Amino acid sequence: MASTITVDLGERSYPIIIGSGLLGGGFDLSNYVRGGDCLVVSNDTVAPLYLDKLLPNLAGRNVDSIALPDGEAYKTLETMQLILDKLVDMRANRDTTIVALGGGVVGDIAGFAAACYMRGVNFVQVPTTLLAQVDSSVGGKTGVNHPQGKNLIGSFHQPQAVLIDTDTLNTLPDRELSAGLAEVIKYGAICDAGFFAWLESNMADLVARDADALARAIRRSCECKAEVVAEDEREAGRRAILNFGHTFGHAIENCQGYGEWLHGEAVAAGMIMAAQLSKLPSGDVERLRALVAAAGLPVEPPAIASSDWMTAMGMDKKVQGKQLRFVLLQGIGDSFVSADYDAARLDELTGAAA
Ligand SMILES: NC(=O)c1ccc[n+]([C@@H]2O[C@H](COP(=O)([O-])OP(=O)(O)OC[C@H]3O[C@@H](n4cnc5c(N)ncnc54)[C@H](O)[C@@H]3O)[C@@H](O)[C@H]2O)c1
Ligand SMILES: [Zn+2]
Repeated sequence: MASTITVDLGERSYPIIIGSGLLGGGFDLSNYVRGGDCLVVSNDTVAPLYLDKLLPNLAGRNVDSIALPDGEAYKTLETMQLILDKLVDMRANRDTTIVALGGGVVGDIAGFAAACYMRGVNFVQVPTTLLAQVDSSVGGKTGVNHPQGKNLIGSFHQPQAVLIDTDTLNTLPDRELSAGLAEVIKYGAICDAGFFAWLESNMADLVARDADALARAIRRSCECKAEVVAEDEREAGRRAILNFGHTFGHAIENCQGYGEWLHGEAVAAGMIMAAQLSKLPSGDVERLRALVAAAGLPVEPPAIASSDWMTAMGMDKKVQGKQLRFVLLQGIGDSFVSADYDAARLDELTGAAA
């Protein structure tokens, strides 16, 4: 059984279809594949698992495919060039559709290739990690990394559809599942206290991969993201709340070297720091900490020198006096963006007060 959520962006609106058994022909994607040709972009881990299962969903179309090398290290312009070369080889025209089959790395690169090829072709997301299902496949941010920084090169390019088969999570490593749960917890913390409470009661089932619990968590997360994106597609304001925990999280990723901590793990510890920086009753911080721990995620950041925290968060001497903006909580489920935080508390949290 599938359920559908619409991302409401006027003529660029699109459905997110969520359910079990959707690959293997359980959902006909051809309505979203304009023209006769499509290129499935995947990687060398996911393609052997799911490419054959996706083909019946694209019946009646000429399907070509490419498997990229797996890993964040390959989220580069060089890898994107492989996709563009393939499209040129296929003599793909503007009616070609790119289908991204994989986690956030594949989705981001394939989406950016779709944004660039012939100034933009259609694309469809088939996310296969929990993180990609609840976050990166929805909202239209696409791009690649530059050696000097993550996601520095990219574009907004919305997909025509997002197809989430929850069965794909059965092969996902535990650590990746937990990393995705960090973003799920984020939605509860920033926009829905009821959902946060539901997560508290159901975290054990989620970690045990109960299909119904996962489908429900994915649905509510996508609704939350879809609402925020519909309100502020290009992050002029409110969309920034989706970065709850991310200022600290990105600093952790930066200081540890990418790959040491998964993004979701860094965000998990980062959310607790952001909650501690908020003027919250301590009971709420404890609830967040307990939920993060129950998801199998770290509740403390790694040891990082306070000067490294400051540099990584853009607060080094060169930008002295600059106020950072943080996503803070007023309560569980109620977030806002503010530069008006307690600087002494930030020093305490990053060890600068010691
Ligand atoms: N565009 C956005 O709005 C947005 C939002 C958040 C994150 N991101 C990006 O997403 C990326 C992280 O995505 P991710 O966490 O999905 O990582 P990922 O794409 O690297 O996937 C994690 C690992 O799981 C493997 N995998 C994927 N699906 C699998 C499955 N079903 N079974 C077994 N293995 C599977 C992948 O091959 C990879 O080794 C980062 O590059 C980040 O910048 C983008
Ligand atoms: Zn994130």
